[in-house]
Amino acid sequence: MSHSKPENAQPEHAQAEHESQKPVSSLEQAKLEDEKKSDPEATKLPSSRTEPGDECCHYQPDPDELAFLKQQTRIQDEEELKVHVFAVQKKAYKVCPYPCIRRFGFVRIKIIKNPAAYNHVLELGRTLPGALFLDVGCCFGIDLRRLANDGFPVQNMLACDIRKGFVNPLRISDDFWDLGHELFRSTAESFPVAFLAGDVFDPAFLTLQAPATEAPQSPAPNLDSLASLEGLQGHLSAIHSASLFHLFGEVNQLQLARKLAGLLSARPGSIIFGCHGAQPTKGHVLGSRGKYMFCHSSETWREMWEGIFEQGSVEIATHMKNVGKLLNPTTDFYMLFWSVKRL
Ligand SMILES: C[S@@+](CC[C@H](N)C(=O)[O-])C[C@H]1O[C@@H](n2cnc3c(N)ncnc32)[C@H](O)[C@@H]1O
Repeated sequence: MSHSKPENAQPEHAQAEHESQKPVSSLEQAKLEDEKKSDPEATKLPSSRTEPGDECCHYQPDPDELAFLKQQTRIQDEEELKVHVFAVQKKAYKVCPYPCIRRFGFVRIKIIKNPAAYNHVLELGRTLPGALFLDVGCCFGIDLRRLANDGFPVQNMLACDIRKGFVNPLRISDDFWDLGHELFRSTAESFPVAFLAGDVFDPAFLTLQAPATEAPQSPAPNLDSLASLEGLQGHLSAIHSASLFHLFGEVNQLQLARKLAGLLSARPGSIIFGCHGAQPTKGHVLGSRGKYMFCHSSETWREMWEGIFEQGSVEIATHMKNVGKLLNPTTDFYMLFWSVKRL
């Protein structure tokens, strides 16, 4: 059950609240920075723990995911495949000890769990020449790989992740995208999806622009020549994000949504979709390591998008699934699968 934070909870904005002497602009910045760190558990490195631990029970690819892993890696023996996946997981854990790394979330295919949106994107890939797709917070890129495998043109796909250094006290030089190549046994040549490293909150990487109301004046930049998401505003036909929004507090979830909305093409049928943690009632939920996580409900998530796009200009779909007591032994955790499509 979601709830207000108890009094003994660590305030999410503690740092910003203590910095009230700062000028307003830097206080606002501090709030944004603090919110970005409000991640329930994902950004918290367990003290001196640099190994994923004995959590092999979390390696549970479903038959479809197992078949996809076998096809991509060309490793047919399931024990050999497991050894391979575990070896990459160990390296990834040193880059950033996300729960999704610890729990092998990187072998779970999420993009297909939104079947209407997914089929619509495949259709865009088949029928709309130059339709561009972006996966934000792609990690190893399993969702991009599935989409490419199902026929979306690889040259029109773009991957983005903050990669190195987000929480990387060991300064390991590997990053998730390169580890994705290792996991799926691909190379930049065999899987030539353009990858951009950057923080979506960083204005140097992506400035906030209002949702486009008409086609952009200039053609879309060449994806291979990009150093940031800047210049793509109004050009993207499909944007996907899985397990990204829930890393942030309410202010930054809105900020992220507005930034993604600014990237979306004005063309009817353009779509933003994905999934992340949610609760039946908006509020904070206790994470697995004592930190609180902000969760929207289906209703407040819908209201948020309605406030971003002009009234009546988008169709919003949501579907919430109880995925069990993932974060702590007493609280049910829910995944919200959602899409926002231009009408
Ligand atoms: C929980 S993982 C989910 C990964 C993948 N989408 C999936 O579902 O398996 C969140 C991903 O978002 C990335 N990320 C976190 N903060 C980010 C930011 N500010 N900008 C871009 N990527 C970010 C992380 O590095 C990580 O790969």
